[in-house]
Amino acid sequence: MSTSLLKVYLTRVMLPPVLDRLKGLCDLNINPNDRTLTREELLDAVKDIDVLVPNGPDRIDAEVLEAAPKLKLIANFGVGYNNIDVDAATRLGIPVTNTPGVLSEATADIAWGLLMSVARRISEGDRMIRGDGWKGWGPLQLLGSDVTGATLGLIGLGSIGKAMIPRAKGFAMKIIYWNRTRLDPADEKELGIEYVSKDALLSSADFVSLHVALVPETRHLISEPELRLMKPSAFLINTTRGPVVDEKALVAALESGTIAGAGLDVFENEPAVEPDLMHLENVAMAPHLGSATVGTRIKMGMLVVDNCEALFTEKPYPDIVNAEVL
Ligand code: DGY
Repeated sequence: MSTSLLKVYLTRVMLPPVLDRLKGLCDLNINPNDRTLTREELLDAVKDIDVLVPNGPDRIDAEVLEAAPKLKLIANFGVGYNNIDVDAATRLGIPVTNTPGVLSEATADIAWGLLMSVARRISEGDRMIRGDGWKGWGPLQLLGSDVTGATLGLIGLGSIGKAMIPRAKGFAMKIIYWNRTRLDPADEKELGIEYVSKDALLSSADFVSLHVALVPETRHLISEPELRLMKPSAFLINTTRGPVVDEKALVAALESGTIAGAGLDVFENEPAVEPDLMHLENVAMAPHLGSATVGTRIKMGMLVVDNCEALFTEKPYPDIVNAEVL
């Protein structure tokens, strides 16, 4: 296959080292705007491209794929690929790749940051200072919850869930987990974690951190009944995908004191956020920053290039999602 002729389209710009590598490999085209493409722009952009490099906010469904008759590869810039209709891509014979592994540590860091922020009321304190509400130290002021020695419940134990383990150990936490498939007991022992049922996890953890992928079975995995199982002193941390949590049920649980607080990096209808979350003090929020470090975004971009290069050189894709298409 002639490499120089293949037209690659990035729906968002990437960091210079990634662009420099791509420039030498293909006919590189990039959305010139610093924003997500509109639906019309996306449908127009894919018309005569060979490779599409989308990211989370781009909805790559059958309509987009049908508008791209020359498309040979979708190299998603992200590990989660719920933005892509993989079944439709597979039907059309288009391989889909993602960027696994390289963003686990950065995402676990954000989960940890939100956990600390909400438990120790750091962002609430920041708002107090900026709002000129701080009148001096007080023995009962902004009292938080202990992290050290608490119980962390991990729902989902892929590479991001696993990256939470050393962080929790640094805080002498007890670590319990629930996952679709249980680890080998010898591995559990080595990692120092205990397998429990989802209900047992929800009812005993001080911090419940979500690390499952968004698939039909995990949509609203945490809704009113699950929140009701949690302790009133417990916190929910979500750094995976917003729709894993029923955001309206979460707001109700936070308002009524069913749970103590939440740390959220992802939202059900990004970038829209449930309006009632905005005035709740017991929530620490970040705008989907899980993988947002320079080093991580370069590594993610390099995986995208590796997958494009596999197409150009007719080698196996390093990160294929729909292997059945090959
Ligand atoms: C991912 O890689 O899935 C991150 O959430 C960025 O979209």
